Amino acid sequence: MKVAFVGKGGSGKTTLSSLFTRHLAARGLPVVAIDADINQHMGVALGLDEDRAAKVPAMGERLPEIKDWLRGDNPRVSSTSAMVKTTPPGAGSRLLRVGGDDPVHALGQDVGGATLLATGPFNDDDLGVACYHSKTGAVELYLNHLVDGPGEYVVVDMTAGADTFASGLFTRFDLMFLVAEPTRKGVGVYRQYTEYARDYDVAIAVVGNKVQGDADLAYLREHVGDDLLTWLGQSAAVRAVEQGREGVALEDANTAALDTMLAAVDARAKDWEKFRRQAVEFHLKNARSWANRATGEDLAAQVDPDFRFPVAYAG
Ligand SMILES: Nc1ncnc2c1ncn2[C@@H]1O[C@H](COP(=O)(O)OP(=O)(O)OP(=O)(O)O)[C@@H](O)[C@H]1O
Ligand SMILES: [Mg+2]
Repeated sequence: MKVAFVGKGGSGKTTLSSLFTRHLAARGLPVVAIDADINQHMGVALGLDEDRAAKVPAMGERLPEIKDWLRGDNPRVSSTSAMVKTTPPGAGSRLLRVGGDDPVHALGQDVGGATLLATGPFNDDDLGVACYHSKTGAVELYLNHLVDGPGEYVVVDMTAGADTFASGLFTRFDLMFLVAEPTRKGVGVYRQYTEYARDYDVAIAVVGNKVQGDADLAYLREHVGDDLLTWLGQSAAVRAVEQGREGVALEDANTAALDTMLAAVDARAKDWEKFRRQAVEFHLKNARSWANRATGEDLAAQVDPDFRFPVAYAG
C-alpha cells in the first residue's frame, strides 16, 4: 500500500510520516519509508543520528543505475537516457517488491525494522513538470515499478505545497494523508488539495495535528467536515524526542490515531488497472510537454499496451 503525507510547511508531515512508519515497524509490518522532501529530515525523525542520516545514499544521485536496472531488457526503452521519470514498466522491465533484494532497496538504511530510502536534498528547480533530472523522479520510478500488496507499506514524506500535484506522482498513492493544523493556514490548502485529488480519483484523508482541545477540533470539523479522518494532539512525547530524550512512549490517544490511519489504509482496495492507466496518461503528458524534446525520441512508443501488473495477491 502506497501512502503519502502532504500538507503545509511545518504542519507535521515528517513527524507524522515517521510516527506512522514506526507504528507499522513496531507491529512487524514490512515498511519502506521514503524521504522525498526538499530538506531531508525523515532519517533523524525515525531515530538515526545526524551522521547516519546524512549517509543514506541519495536515490536522486543514482538515477542512471536505478533506470538501468528497472528497464531490464524492455525493448521499448532504447537506452537508459531515454528512460524518464514517467516511463512505465512494460514487457522486459524489472519490477520491485517491498523490501526486495534489488539495487534500489540496497540503497536503503534499516531503522528500527523499517527501510529508509531518501531522494537526497533538492531545490525548486527539481520541482514541477519540466524536471528531467528531478530528484522526486526517482520516487516516481520506484512507485511505478513497485508491486505491493495488502499488508506491505510504502510511506512517503512529501514536499510542502501544491508542487506535489505538478506531476503524476500524487496519483501513485492508495491514500494521501493531508496533515492540517487547526489554523487558517492549516486548513487553507484543504480545498485545493482535495480538488486536485478528486479530479484524479485519488483518495485523500485529513489528519488534524497539534490539536489542543475541543475548540481546535470544532474548527477542523467546520472546515474539512467528513474528510477529517482523525487527529493527533500536541504531543509531549514528540517534543521530548525533539529534545533528545529517548524511550518516551507516544500518548495513547495519539497511538489510537495512528491505528485509525492504518485501518484507513488497509480499507483501500487496490486498483491496478487505474494505477497502470494513470501511469500511461502522465507519461504521455510528460512526453508531449518536455520529455520527447529532451530525449529526441517519441516516448509514446515506450507504452506497452499489453502490459499488466503481475498481481499475485488477493485484492
Ligand atoms: N503532534 C505534535 N506534537 C508536538 N509537536 C509536533 C507535533 N507535530 C509536529 N510537531 C513539531 O512541529 C514542528 C514541525 O513538524 P514537522 O517537521 O514534522 O513538519 P513538516 O510538515 O514536515 O515541515 P516541513 O514542511 O518543514 O517539512 C517540529 O518541531 C515537530 O516536532
Ligand atoms: Mg518535513
